[in-house]
Amino acid sequence: MTFLGIDIGTSGVKALLIDDSGKPIGEASAPAVEPVRPHPGWSEQNPADWWTATLAAVDKLKASHPADLAKVRGIGLSGHMHGATLLGKNDEVLRPCILWNDGRSAAECLEMEAALPSLREIAGNIAMPGFTAPKIAWVRKHEPDIYARIAKVLLPKAYVRLLLSGEHIEDMSDAAGTLWLDVARRDWSDELLAVTGLNRSHMPRLVEGSAPAVSLKRELAARWGMSGDVVIAGGAGDNAASACGIGAIRAGEGFVSLGTSGVLFVSNDKFRPNTKGAVHAFCHAIPDTWHQMGVILSATDSLNWLARISGQKQADLSRAAEAGFKGPGEEIFLPYLSGERTPHNNAKARGSFTGLSQSTEPAQLAQAVMEGVTFAMRDCQRVLSDAGTKIDRLLAVGGGSKSALWLKLLATNLDMEIALPEDGDFGGALGAARLGLCAATGANPADIMTMPPIKTVIAPDKSLSVAYSDQYARYRALYPAIEEAIS
Ligand code: XUL
Repeated sequence: MTFLGIDIGTSGVKALLIDDSGKPIGEASAPAVEPVRPHPGWSEQNPADWWTATLAAVDKLKASHPADLAKVRGIGLSGHMHGATLLGKNDEVLRPCILWNDGRSAAECLEMEAALPSLREIAGNIAMPGFTAPKIAWVRKHEPDIYARIAKVLLPKAYVRLLLSGEHIEDMSDAAGTLWLDVARRDWSDELLAVTGLNRSHMPRLVEGSAPAVSLKRELAARWGMSGDVVIAGGAGDNAASACGIGAIRAGEGFVSLGTSGVLFVSNDKFRPNTKGAVHAFCHAIPDTWHQMGVILSATDSLNWLARISGQKQADLSRAAEAGFKGPGEEIFLPYLSGERTPHNNAKARGSFTGLSQSTEPAQLAQAVMEGVTFAMRDCQRVLSDAGTKIDRLLAVGGGSKSALWLKLLATNLDMEIALPEDGDFGGALGAARLGLCAATGANPADIMTMPPIKTVIAPDKSLSVAYSDQYARYRALYPAIEEAIS
């Protein structure tokens, strides 16, 4: 028996095969057409692109690992969260998906909170433009003809599951990011749905992430050489899936992710909201488990932006920053290029460099960008700890964790050791494959979601602690000082 994890990302789809001991045995990926930004702060993608990339990635696995792919018994899905995929009554896509990093619905968030004063209590979260429901409130106001035709709203991975299986199904971890879920009860909330004029008929059926949800269509099983029933699990939003991939399912276990977005994720044994600090409090992909996240919208995306506008390669910039590193310099960067969720909840916030001088070179800007993202993660740690959360163990994941300097900055600023997994795939695709294994075999998630082998543990550099606490204090003072100018 083998199991397949499919991770739907905004830049592409990754498919990963694991054997019945959970060991990765093959992977393939296919790029998706990059999201478009029709206006500043907007971000959209065509759902058909996820499907094309999914077929391409699994077809590649069929070419490279035909015998192993034929043995697949369970499939798990992971996907970028919050995206509003609007379907009409024949499951036709009504408009491009409005993505997780789209900030257009700030006004609708305020209107929703005013319409239902208990919204934060039921949803366990602030109405933020990143979440799904405010995007529908925006469509209702600005595109009423499209709104009138909505028969179902799906998240990105549920749309891919619809094409894999023919059914509308969502798991708890992703559903929690819609703002329509009663997160403590793990059920849709009629009251929350009513705020956007929707009801349960517009929602997919809910299942737990590790539970069997539906079977793969016969024609797709035949295309990939699979025989018998192939179970599709509930799966998870990309962050909860990554947590399953690195074994963070018990209270206090977490990860710091430096991907397009930056995430500080910690598992909880119970539902622990802290809306004051814009903490995300969601269901985990495992029954009776929840998690908290601090989410920043531009992590490696900030360095990508600097690379793009300076005409340099991101890897060269990060090498130059590392080579000249002597501790904090004069330049400070606020990484709010796409607005910010934690801790400011301000979709209109924008990025900023301060402390520039004639001696500022691209290397200093790159260092300031890495530090700014690190300080934003320190903000996340602060608000999680205000919610009473203690982090016992932290692993680093995502593209930015390849930079030794970035990891040292994180360990020093979070003032805790950070473990870096051995090279390999410990992200959403592995977590998804593990969920597929649990759903198909009934295995206990606690036995399957184990920690990967660790390559190295990065300790805080105590000689830099005071300098960075001072620089962090300067960073924190900047946002309130210039909020009006950059919002
Ligand atoms: C989490 C979030 C992002 C996306 C990235 O709330 O919006 O981490 O899931 O894919």
